[in-house]
Amino acid sequence: MSDRTSPTNPPAATIDRRAFVRAAAVAATAPLVSPVWGTIRADDRLKVGLVGCGGRGTGAAVNALGADPGAVLWAIADVFPDRIDRCITQLEENANPEQIALPPERRFVGFDAIDQVLASGVDVVILATPPGFRPAQLEKAVAAGKHVFCEKPMAVDVPGAKRVMAAAKAAKEKNLSLVSGFCWRYSSPERALYGRILNGDLGEVTAAHSTYHTGPLGISPRKPEWSDMEFQLRNWWHFNWISGDIIVEQACHSVDKLNWARNNEQPVRCLGLAGRGNRSGPERGDVFDHFTAIYEYADGSRSILTCRQQANCSNDNTDWIAGTKGLAFVNGWAPNQTRIEPTSGTAWAYSGPTPNMYQVEHDELFKSIREGRPLNDGDFMAQSTLMSIMGRDAGYTGQMITWEELMNSTQTLGPSVLEWGPLPEPVIPVPGKTRFS
Ligand SMILES: NC(=O)c1ccc[n+]([C@@H]2O[C@H](COP(=O)([O-])OP(=O)(O)OC[C@H]3O[C@@H](n4cnc5c(N)ncnc54)[C@H](O)[C@@H]3O)[C@@H](O)[C@H]2O)c1
Repeated sequence: MSDRTSPTNPPAATIDRRAFVRAAAVAATAPLVSPVWGTIRADDRLKVGLVGCGGRGTGAAVNALGADPGAVLWAIADVFPDRIDRCITQLEENANPEQIALPPERRFVGFDAIDQVLASGVDVVILATPPGFRPAQLEKAVAAGKHVFCEKPMAVDVPGAKRVMAAAKAAKEKNLSLVSGFCWRYSSPERALYGRILNGDLGEVTAAHSTYHTGPLGISPRKPEWSDMEFQLRNWWHFNWISGDIIVEQACHSVDKLNWARNNEQPVRCLGLAGRGNRSGPERGDVFDHFTAIYEYADGSRSILTCRQQANCSNDNTDWIAGTKGLAFVNGWAPNQTRIEPTSGTAWAYSGPTPNMYQVEHDELFKSIREGRPLNDGDFMAQSTLMSIMGRDAGYTGQMITWEELMNSTQTLGPSVLEWGPLPEPVIPVPGKTRFS
């Protein structure tokens, strides 16, 4: 669904047909009580807005409709009309048509199109644009009093992450649900494993290593009529100001699991090694193709993230967590490999169900809204994003960065005004020369 040719994120990230079948079955058995809208009572509707109609946004919309028979996709927005058209075609093939209410006047285009979605009467908004836009869009959604599903990562720079923290706090105060796309937090094997770790089954965590090793992402070759802004937006995952680079955009999932194992403990400092030996050409922008980030905690223990997007290399997505009482292991791409091997006693392996985590995110979000028990992922979604930014900037600069230095960073990425037209040539960082600011 995305223009990208290799998976950037856990598999099955987009449309799930089972979600549609389930929603359709539930909707078909719903009682017909007046007033009705299709088979859905008007006063039972939860109106959903979608901002960012690409692969994940379309998939998340299908998940939202599958989560709640009263959910209705009410308004959508994107910067490109062709993405809206493609999204609607895919929705029509994959979702219950009675849950799609998108007349032309509720299809909005442009950088500010989110404002029109928020003003259209939606109850819930899905934020699935690239992460460079997330802080401003999340702020707006919470200020407008909407429940939110927002994709990961949450920001591309520290000031942006702070705006996300403030918005998450405001959501809590307003009793709004805020669920993040850090989807492993909604995956049953990982919940069982990390639950055991947080329960003390491994003793004290002493070391961890998480991998996100995959191939390069596809490109959209430049067309003569495209401005710099259109060119970069259509290749956004190759531009740091929009994506945050591969460690923030993609490997943040693995950073989040390192963070999960330590129960959101802040690392005191981070050392990074990184480069982009296999990237060239304007479409490849300024992002690197590999990072190692070594997070050090107050007790001297370390958690290490390695990530890579290079062709013809071995791929892997695993977490190893060592504790004073044993070793835990999980392979995110092979959910039957989730185990704890204690130094003494019986080993444990996950053998329960593995429901689609993308569906679970929305099932739990809509349940929380219906029951008036708001969920709020704010703490870990902000900290895992900050840790990813820390690893990126440690890699870019070649310097050790402390948490305090990180939190004092004032660097904001990207243009101050979003408009179609020219953009400065991206500057590729050089470790040892690039300064942290
Ligand atoms: N949780 C996961 O496993 C997972 C999987 C894939 C993507 N993602 C995340 O989802 C987000 C979107 O990724 P994608 O793969 O769907 O990308 P995509 O390119 O397929 O879709 C992004 C869409 O946003 C639109 N857009 C860009 N800027 C916009 C703006 N300012 N306002 C409105 N629309 C705008 C683009 O035109 C595009 O249609 C990213 O943050 C990505 O990291 C998460």
